[in-house]
Amino acid sequence: MGKDVIIACDFNSRDEVMKFLDKFQGKKPFVKIGMELFYAEGPKIVREIKARGHKIFLDLKLHDIPNTVKKSMAVLSSLDIDMCNLHASGTKAMMSAALEGLTRKDGTRPLLIAVTQLTSTDENRMREDLLIERPLPEVVMHYAKCAADCGLDGVVCSPLEADKVHKVCGKEFLTVTPGVRFADGDVGDQVRVTTPEKAREIGSDYIVVGRPITASENPVEAYERCVREFVG
Ligand code: C5P
Repeated sequence: MGKDVIIACDFNSRDEVMKFLDKFQGKKPFVKIGMELFYAEGPKIVREIKARGHKIFLDLKLHDIPNTVKKSMAVLSSLDIDMCNLHASGTKAMMSAALEGLTRKDGTRPLLIAVTQLTSTDENRMREDLLIERPLPEVVMHYAKCAADCGLDGVVCSPLEADKVHKVCGKEFLTVTPGVRFADGDVGDQVRVTTPEKAREIGSDYIVVGRPITASENPVEAYERCVREFVG
């Protein structure tokens, strides 16, 4: 599986995202479209970016009853995206239904990645709000294993967990990892960060990088630096 850098296009309008992508003249980075842009601009923004030749990770984190997720995934799949995701906490039944919905008539489908526990959730909140008593790392690995058992392609996790996920779920099971910063860059609101080079060493398959590229004075140069350090 080829390693790649995915740019988190956390913009909330078509104008902003297009202005950003125009800087990449001729280059077609893999991009992540999140809820913010999708809710603002709708599916047409996905079609438009795809038509420009980019691979797309549609980060909508679905979580609902299996039948609803299955039908929604079929709609997302028809947008010709390359990767999408859901919450593993929606249960194995929901994950299996999602895979079914995502699979096109010709047998192809986008990659399906599970979110385990959001990084904004800590052990205290799990215990108090969700009545989950087990340690957080154990919960994360259990959810990853459930996703792998259902035939999903991977999980979103910290680069620091990539190695462990591969040990538990297999080498081919993808780790898609945000929380990446250059060694000499701003950390911002991310807490546990890793450089692209370190992420490669630990075994991330895809790094998701937002502000170190989008807020850079020279986004193309920052993207190329990321690719050099991560892919080599
Ligand atoms: O700007 P930055 O590099 O921090 O962007 C990281 C991207 O990855 C954002 O789109 C953020 O929502 C997403 N993400 C994250 N941590 C997670 C899951 C997703 O930072 N645990």
